[in-house]
Amino acid sequence: MKIGILGAGNIGGNLGKIWAAKGHEIFFAVREPHSDKVKALLNELGSSVRTGSLQEAVSFGEVVLLAVHWQNVPAVLQEIQGLMSDKILIDSTNRMIPPPPDTTGSAAEDIARALPGAKVIKAFSTLGANNLTNLKFGSEDASTFICGDDPKAKAIVTQLGEELGFDVVDAGLLNTAPLIESLTKLWVQISRNYGREIALKLLRR
Ligand SMILES: NC(=O)c1ccc[n+]([C@@H]2O[C@H](COP(=O)([O-])OP(=O)(O)OC[C@H]3O[C@@H](n4cnc5c(N)ncnc54)[C@H](OP(=O)(O)O)[C@@H]3O)[C@@H](O)[C@H]2O)c1
Repeated sequence: MKIGILGAGNIGGNLGKIWAAKGHEIFFAVREPHSDKVKALLNELGSSVRTGSLQEAVSFGEVVLLAVHWQNVPAVLQEIQGLMSDKILIDSTNRMIPPPPDTTGSAAEDIARALPGAKVIKAFSTLGANNLTNLKFGSEDASTFICGDDPKAKAIVTQLGEELGFDVVDAGLLNTAPLIESLTKLWVQISRNYGREIALKLLRR
């Protein structure tokens, strides 16, 4: 699958590396292609991975991962407006600041409102990026809680999540995003007592 990644940092860089190793085609949007950080990423991944502008990454991707800090989200959304129609956007952002006044209940719903036609799926946001390369905790796989309105898009994101090693939990429609975003706040709070090598898990029987 062709995946455009907006933000080649802790989340985007790690997910891009794992998906590339699984055979997906990756295009990173980067601001400074000649920075040491980007060079190191490309050295690790080889020539099959491409870099370019936000618009190029979005045009390339059948799926687009949004993995920039919340303060950068408005500028990124402005750049990609009009290019996301019918595409899947995975929102892995966390809005750790008070929401702006003209807002929905969640970052994911704000993003969906800004990108009409995009199939927004909240995913991969409720644990520290340090865990992405090893999602096994004893015999358990860490859960990732996802939500979104488009069933086909959700199935694709579920598959991508399972390839990462997640136990993917479908929490419901996109209006469930406020609850998932609260789980991240819970993870951050708990990590202050237990460290960052932790994950949330849905137990079932
Ligand atoms: N880190 C975690 O443990 C974690 C866990 C779950 C969710 N999240 C969420 O995931 C998002 C990313 O976090 P992170 O830790 O991966 O951050 P990060 O390591 O700082 O990476 C963010 C990346 O976004 C890039 N960026 C910002 N504006 C851009 C633009 N206009 N065009 C292209 N690239 C741009 C930055 O590029 P430059 O190098 O040019 O600045 C940087 O590479 C945040 O919303 C965060 O809340 C993080």
